[in-house]
Amino acid sequence: MAKLCVNIDHVATVRQARRTVEPDPVAAAVLAELGGASGITIHLREDRRHIQNRDLEILRQVVRTKLNLEMAGTQEMLKMALLVKPDMCTLVPERREELTTEGGLDVAMYKDQLQKYISLLGEADIKTSLFIDPDLDQVRAAHFVGAPCVEIHTGSYAEARTEREQAEQLTRISNAVRTAAKLGMQVNAGHGLNYRNVSAVAALPSVDELNIGHSVVSRAVLVGMEAAVREMSQLIRHASQQPAER
Ligand code: PXP
Repeated sequence: MAKLCVNIDHVATVRQARRTVEPDPVAAAVLAELGGASGITIHLREDRRHIQNRDLEILRQVVRTKLNLEMAGTQEMLKMALLVKPDMCTLVPERREELTTEGGLDVAMYKDQLQKYISLLGEADIKTSLFIDPDLDQVRAAHFVGAPCVEIHTGSYAEARTEREQAEQLTRISNAVRTAAKLGMQVNAGHGLNYRNVSAVAALPSVDELNIGHSVVSRAVLVGMEAAVREMSQLIRHASQQPAER
């Protein structure tokens, strides 16, 4: 069954809107775990627009499930990861001007650097995941550089405007998931998933973890974090029990 890892970046976004101390993403992480989250994900961005160093450090001590740090492949972030030791590092491309992570990594283009990061993090017992588009060349490149895990970008599926386009994107995701799993990698997925579109992705066999942020935090503002996580977990559980014919 796919596991839910809650990305709490946008709890920090609200805090940073006033440069104050609340809401605290640490409290949100505790409540997400109480609601049944299997992991907590944060993205420490170069510009620190939401999650701060302090959050990462405290979350490392407080999170009882699994801490996944999304980060750009930079020296600064590598140093931070080796110091704080999250359970997993998801390497993502990062551009200052983007609202959120826009596309997946071009693994072949940064082959040498990625190989180096995967090996340095691995030596520190940190599993590396590469965030990639649902593209078979990227999946094979991730395997080639020795990534133990990939996260398949579900953004194009989430943004599809028609049912047909959505079905096409789901097929791309399904093929990428299947290929990555056959190559022996752990397969995660995420980006743009919400209460309406999560089921089809959660039903794909071999999807291990779903990283979901904006929609869960948005619902949490209205119904509370525990309830929002519980509702999302239920959808995922239900979908996993009815595997898709793909
Ligand atoms: N996975 C990755 C690699 C991401 O960068 C993000 C956004 O921070 C997510 C998942 C979660 O996306 P969303 O907030 O749209 O659920």
